[in-house]
Amino acid sequence: MGKTQKFDHMKLIRKYAGGHTTLITLGRLTAAISAIVVLIPYYDLWKIISIAVNNEDTAQISHYAWQAVILTIASLLIYIGALFCTHIAAFRVQANMRSALMRRIITLPLGVFDEDGTGMIRRIVNDSTAATETFIAHQLPDKAVAAITPIGLWVLIFAFNWKIGLMCMIPAVIGFACMMCMMGKGMQEKMKEYQNALDTMSSEATEYVRGIPVVKTFGQTVHSFKRFKEAIDGFGKWTTAYTLVLRWPMTAFMTCINAIFAFIVIAAFTFSKDGTSAALILNIMYYIIVTPLVTVALTKVAYSGEAEMTLIDALQRVERIMEIEPLADNKAGKAPSDHSVELRNVTYRYKDATRDAVKNVSLKIAPGEHVALVGPSGSGKTTLAELIVRFFDVTSGEILIGGVNVKDIPAKELMKQVSFVFQDSRLIKRSIFENVRMSKPDATEAEVMAALETAQCMDIIEKLPNGIHTVIGEKGTYLSGGEQQRITIARAVLKDAPILILDEATAFADPDNEAKVQAAFENLSKGKTLIMIAHRLSTVMNADRIYVCDDGQCVESGTHTELMNKGGLYKRMFDEYSRSIEWKVGA
Ligand SMILES: Nc1ncnc2c1ncn2[C@@H]1O[C@H](COP(=O)(O)OP(=O)(O)OP(=O)(O)O)[C@@H](O)[C@H]1O
Ligand SMILES: [Mg+2]
Repeated sequence: MGKTQKFDHMKLIRKYAGGHTTLITLGRLTAAISAIVVLIPYYDLWKIISIAVNNEDTAQISHYAWQAVILTIASLLIYIGALFCTHIAAFRVQANMRSALMRRIITLPLGVFDEDGTGMIRRIVNDSTAATETFIAHQLPDKAVAAITPIGLWVLIFAFNWKIGLMCMIPAVIGFACMMCMMGKGMQEKMKEYQNALDTMSSEATEYVRGIPVVKTFGQTVHSFKRFKEAIDGFGKWTTAYTLVLRWPMTAFMTCINAIFAFIVIAAFTFSKDGTSAALILNIMYYIIVTPLVTVALTKVAYSGEAEMTLIDALQRVERIMEIEPLADNKAGKAPSDHSVELRNVTYRYKDATRDAVKNVSLKIAPGEHVALVGPSGSGKTTLAELIVRFFDVTSGEILIGGVNVKDIPAKELMKQVSFVFQDSRLIKRSIFENVRMSKPDATEAEVMAALETAQCMDIIEKLPNGIHTVIGEKGTYLSGGEQQRITIARAVLKDAPILILDEATAFADPDNEAKVQAAFENLSKGKTLIMIAHRLSTVMNADRIYVCDDGQCVESGTHTELMNKGGLYKRMFDEYSRSIEWKVGA
């Protein structure tokens, strides 16, 4: 993938760092200086050994020893300074990244946030920015150290004995060649595959755990486990193949860099033959102390490459969100003149889908009219309703509210005009009071209570330990689907928007709840333009007009009586519905 190769991660980091770019440069520079300073004590060490084996002036030893101690401490302090710089920059980059992401997310079409999308976005906002933070705070200064240390070490080694230095180069060069082989092209792609395989495995694990109740009730064991197991097997297979690819280069790399030590012993013996035994001891002792440093430095270089690949993958994930096209908000747009809703030849196809979810639908709803959308599951009812509030923009056609195209209505104004009660009610982990008040942040407790009463929620509040201040989802305070929908209706009551869209929950277990939701809907919709998506056809009989959807199209419309007389899809659905009710009563 050519694009992957060209990805300039440092440019992106600089973009998010803003004014802190110099801090990153300073941090890297200081880290490099600390790497040089830490090497000077090795010169002192060589001097000390030299004085000892040659029986020179021992008074000098303490001078060099002190110099070594002071420089070691100094290099440590400089390194801490470097970390200080990179940490400040890293926190800034992470904060800037997160706020840029959040700013972008808020402008995205609401349709992006279906269940899969939310998980993906959460992972990117948390994990990918955290990976970037770690990279800048730790890996960037370490990379500078890893780059400078081998060079400094070779200068040291060559300065003392160029022949031995040359000998050390042989395994190091072979080691580096192996490393290049490991990090060659294709590896970035492999890193992405690795992250994807991890993602699949963790989402399958979540699915599996979520599905356990279903699995238990239906007595399935092996099959339900299959997908999860397949994900694990897939990951296992991928990891094994990856490891096998790396087996030889990695073995060669580790062998080579660890072999420097053996090479030095041989070299020291070979090249010190003519010299005194003191020179031999000096060389061997010195190189024995220094060579492990070379090994450590080279290993660091190898691992910093891996960290960089992880970072590139993280940044690419962040960019993928930043590249999603936001919904254009026409702030200078017009306000609707009334509360009518009109669809003109509306067609919508989900991204990557092969067929239209809504096909060429036209309908006109006058202000204050109550209409119902009915139709088989998957016929496009929810999609149609979501298009009205711009969860996504139509693929073709027009949607008008009060005679103005929804694209020309400022987002704030549109939200003021329309209330939406979702099919799957969405409550957040806060108190009921806060959940209801989300639609009108300055509402008083009395207003919230009144809304809850209108939405038939008093029986729910009464049984909760702290009334409306009970936090949902905490300490076993969970609400049933029907109860949750009633709370969201209270939210809509409080908002008091002139146009209402109700997507009825598919099924409520008990008739008592069903009747209450029904009553709540009725209270809410008085005097408002209402679009109600209904599954229980008994609830739509009184609608001014019923639209029947089938396979994305609007196939029939009229009042209940008109449609029954017509004898089409609606009549068939209604007859079936009546039979199911009778069946329930009879059973
Ligand atoms: N996020 C999505 N991405 C792709 N396709 C989708 C998405 N959401 C829904 N669809 C498809 O669009 C079509 C219409 O779905 P929609 O949810 O609007 O149906 P519905 O009439 O509301 O069904 P139900 O009565 O079960 O609620 C279906 O074929 C569905 O598979
Ligand atoms: Mg639906």
